[in-house]
Amino acid sequence: MGPGPSDVHPRVLEAVGRPTIGHLDPQFVRLMDEVKTLLQYAFQTKNKMTFPVSAPGSAGMECCFVNLVEPGDTVIVAQNGVFGARMKENVERCGAVAALVEDEWGKPVDPSKIEEALKAHPEAKIVAFVHAETSTGAESDAETIAKLAQQYGCLTIVDAVTSLGGSPLKVDEWGLDAVYSGSQKCLSCLPGISPVTFSERALEVIRNRKTKVQSWFLDIGLLMSYWGGEAKRTYHHTAPVNAMYALHEALLILKEEGVEAAWARHKKWHEKLRLGLEELGLNFVVEEPYRLPQLNAVSLPEGCADAEIRSRLLEEFNLEIGAGLGAMAGKIWRIGLMGYACREENVTFCLESLEGLLSVRVK
Ligand SMILES: Cc1ncc(COP(=O)(O)O)c(C=O)c1O
Repeated sequence: MGPGPSDVHPRVLEAVGRPTIGHLDPQFVRLMDEVKTLLQYAFQTKNKMTFPVSAPGSAGMECCFVNLVEPGDTVIVAQNGVFGARMKENVERCGAVAALVEDEWGKPVDPSKIEEALKAHPEAKIVAFVHAETSTGAESDAETIAKLAQQYGCLTIVDAVTSLGGSPLKVDEWGLDAVYSGSQKCLSCLPGISPVTFSERALEVIRNRKTKVQSWFLDIGLLMSYWGGEAKRTYHHTAPVNAMYALHEALLILKEEGVEAAWARHKKWHEKLRLGLEELGLNFVVEEPYRLPQLNAVSLPEGCADAEIRSRLLEEFNLEIGAGLGAMAGKIWRIGLMGYACREENVTFCLESLEGLLSVRVK
């Protein structure tokens, strides 16, 4: 019950162990097509360019930036936690200028600040932000930010690593342009795969690039020779075949449950966890309307022995919870309720395990 990787579903673990076949085997090609369709469902999009990058969420992030950003561009980057800072780093490594919009850690991205930045930077091409900030548990209003970006003629790059499958994410309805996620959070799949989706507007910008995409591996044009459906598939890289079996199974599980039902389940067990944590005297870091159900960040009580409690939870109860990152290290805990781990018995177990340890104090 940390911030990810979450517990992998037993059906997914079973799928990984199936015999490995060639990455251009007709059966594998059929599975790839199904993965794309299932990912469109998970992302709630009809985008043709929806596929899994064969690498973790950070590669999905780079894939969006290196394809859309060219040297000299201006990108408005919202930063309200660890992962916004990585977006800024990506922009700068693409030779572009990042116009930072900062919000306090634990708060959502403020759309009015985004609008101010859009007015101050008429040359901006993209607005980049994190939908679900795993470092703090704050959810930002992706729909409002995307509408603002469109109003000012900008595309959006959206980090949905922690939101996909856990809380509402509607790529087409909200008009998001380049979105990346991860397999290891609310999909309860193996770590190491990054689903991405690109809108037609984003593809048009990529087609009209003046410069070559600097990453060979993440160049969308080249990747589509393998993942595209229309032309004959050609070798690009050796796909992680068994990891794709896993992703296929994880996405099937999500489809069987229904994505709306999965969002509702996360909310339901978050409510029970919230009540229990508050009864134990723990306060949430994020204000109510912006709390992610899948990432519950609570402040540590005064004098509480952070590292000792977490290691005793692990050793005595076999239960992992997350520490604070960056500026929040030593100040908060992050309790994940992601995918398969988001079940009533886990909520009860976590509360019971924590109860006996909360009185442990720094010596
Ligand atoms: C919001 C967010 N973005 C990006 C990443 C990076 O993903 P990965 O660790 O799979 O590379 C993470 C990982 O936890 C994340 O939570």
